[in-house]
Amino acid sequence: MSTDDPKAPESVGTTEGQIAVHWREEESFQPSAAFVAQANLTDPAVNERFAEKNFPQCFIEYADMLDWTQRWTTVLDTEDPPFWKWFTGGQLNASYNCVDRHLAQHKNKAALIVVPEPEDEEPITLTYQELYVRVNEFAALLRDFAGLKKGERVTIHMPMVAELPVAMLACARLGVVHSVVFGGFSGEACGMRAADSGSRVLIYMDGYHRGGKMIDHKASAEIAVATAEMEGQSIDKILVWRRYPGKYCSATPMVKGRDFFVDEVIGNYRGVRVEPEAMESEDPLFLMYTSGTTGKPKGCQHRTGGYLAYVTGTSKYIQDIHPEDVYWCMADIGWITGHSYIVYGPLSLAATSVIYEGVPTYPDAGRVWRIAERLDVNIFHTSPTAIRMLRKAGPLEPQKYHYHFKHMTTVGEAIEPEVWKWYYHVVGKDEAVIVDTYWQTENGGFLCSTKPAMDPMKPGSAGPGVPGIYPCILDEQGNELPAGTAIAGNICIRNPWPGIIQTVWGDRDRFVRQYYSKYCKNPASKDWRDWPYFAADGAVLSADGYFRILGRVDDVINVAGHRLGTKELESACLTVEEVAEAAVVPVADDIKGRVPDIYVSLKPGYAPVREIEEKIIATIEAMIGKIARPRKVWIVADMPKTRSGKIMRRVLAAISNTLDTGDTSTLANPDIVEQIRQHVQGNQKLEAKDGPEDLKTFGKEE
Ligand code: WT7
Repeated sequence: MSTDDPKAPESVGTTEGQIAVHWREEESFQPSAAFVAQANLTDPAVNERFAEKNFPQCFIEYADMLDWTQRWTTVLDTEDPPFWKWFTGGQLNASYNCVDRHLAQHKNKAALIVVPEPEDEEPITLTYQELYVRVNEFAALLRDFAGLKKGERVTIHMPMVAELPVAMLACARLGVVHSVVFGGFSGEACGMRAADSGSRVLIYMDGYHRGGKMIDHKASAEIAVATAEMEGQSIDKILVWRRYPGKYCSATPMVKGRDFFVDEVIGNYRGVRVEPEAMESEDPLFLMYTSGTTGKPKGCQHRTGGYLAYVTGTSKYIQDIHPEDVYWCMADIGWITGHSYIVYGPLSLAATSVIYEGVPTYPDAGRVWRIAERLDVNIFHTSPTAIRMLRKAGPLEPQKYHYHFKHMTTVGEAIEPEVWKWYYHVVGKDEAVIVDTYWQTENGGFLCSTKPAMDPMKPGSAGPGVPGIYPCILDEQGNELPAGTAIAGNICIRNPWPGIIQTVWGDRDRFVRQYYSKYCKNPASKDWRDWPYFAADGAVLSADGYFRILGRVDDVINVAGHRLGTKELESACLTVEEVAEAAVVPVADDIKGRVPDIYVSLKPGYAPVREIEEKIIATIEAMIGKIARPRKVWIVADMPKTRSGKIMRRVLAAISNTLDTGDTSTLANPDIVEQIRQHVQGNQKLEAKDGPEDLKTFGKEE
């Protein structure tokens, strides 16, 4: 399959509504003999075992990697489509599988190594025995001090510290459903999510180091409580871990009777052991909120048995994790990548998982490589954004350090072939195999990736479906596009799999509408073949079966590998008193991939002044978080609109990215387009560029 002679894929005529793609085929790279010799998955029989004719039984291979207190009776229950159920009748506990079961052989082995951002603070190691003790004691505290019971929800708003996985695993031990909110999100975002999930207890941290500063994290708790209360959810207790036990590093007062320092209370539970709850396979394990196409984030509800089986299996086969590996995923635990591939997958396999508190380039461009060298990390997992950032900060830095990766992962957005090659040659020193893993919060684990010891790597392409996942490309009418045509369509997964969410928390209709309505062949059918999963990403399939992902087809902006709902940002803008209308569009950014550009028009009587721009930026940071900080706020006289009054975000996106605005003559107010263009691009007429597909097609549905 080597493509030493790269040539453009065969181009065929495209009809309206189809997107032609003009990428040339990239040269492919082979995994090294040394990697293959030690890999978990090398037997070509895997393709046969996980072939469609063996579905769904093929996934027993993953379920068998876990310890069950009661074995399942049914692998896949399709009685209530598309609410698929996995391994029903089975019982297990995720905390037991990630901790207790390793004690016999690995109790003295590092489970977690936590690297504080200040370089003069030593890394902290928790052995499996130590993790076991801490999880039990905190579980006892949650049960006996906070009164939490199986099935209740708890919202966790914490940075990258050991106490975060301890809290998650303690919840899992009790069957309490955790909902972790990314530490960088605001108090409001936390409060909204706490209210939606019905959490009465918050787990917090007082502060943490980031970019050389101590962040007062607890300050956001008051806002979280007030927001939750406004949404009708009261918060009884806030359990506050201290970054330095005994030394409170937040300026906000503790509220008597509501806020408690964990380090003060936990002493009462010293040595207490909590029996892991026997959870039904289908009992929810956690919620993870993600942006959708409407303003309100969706609570992605993940199941216990199927999820844990899926992340364990893919961690073993795709991440190639062995118990003796030192594995470092730089994602934040507050995103799904961190849940699946820092906490649950690696710990289930008894690996050593590294957690880094701070900014990758702090205090300098060598920090990441020093950590890798010191801990002898051999599996490294990060995003294109971080890779671009590290490349910009120190393109030759990795060669100064004596670390050796056998395996590297990229995840979160498409990686440009140029950036992939730097990752491979410079970071990986031509030794490490790379997997480009394509998946989503809703999926639990990987959808597409090469099998690291078996498939050639192709820069920019995620690869084929992973074992047991059968993706396809459908056009708008639901016809399958054949491989190698260079026509883009919607990537869909033809079959259910154990890692997929059970539902959107509290909103079954939204689950069906978002992922299944578009392509369901027969709503009355109980045959999974009639229910392809719609991922809402554009993709092309090349002749060799590799999928190349183009980006979101709905109005979600992927900033630094994380989804932000444009609607969510627009709603935030509209809370600013002066703002009448807001439209948010993605702009290409060298580091983050995409960043938001914000267009607002003002209510009558307000002048377009700088203070309003600043107010909007501050509001977005407060309501959503710094990650959503826009490139620019443009105050415009009016928005380009259709005759029915819809804002044409596609036109604004074209202006922000200097692309062709297309035909605007049918707009209600065509003159505004040139006015806005001059405002944004200046007086001289700029030549429209060719841009990436997702920007060219952004907002096209409107
Ligand atoms: C969206 C999901 C779960 C991973 C972290 C982000 C994009 C993800 C890739 C990849 C191209 C990718 C897609 C997807 N995406 N991985 N390897 N190549 N695009 O999770 O926030 O749920 O975002 O990220 O557009 O739909 P998320």
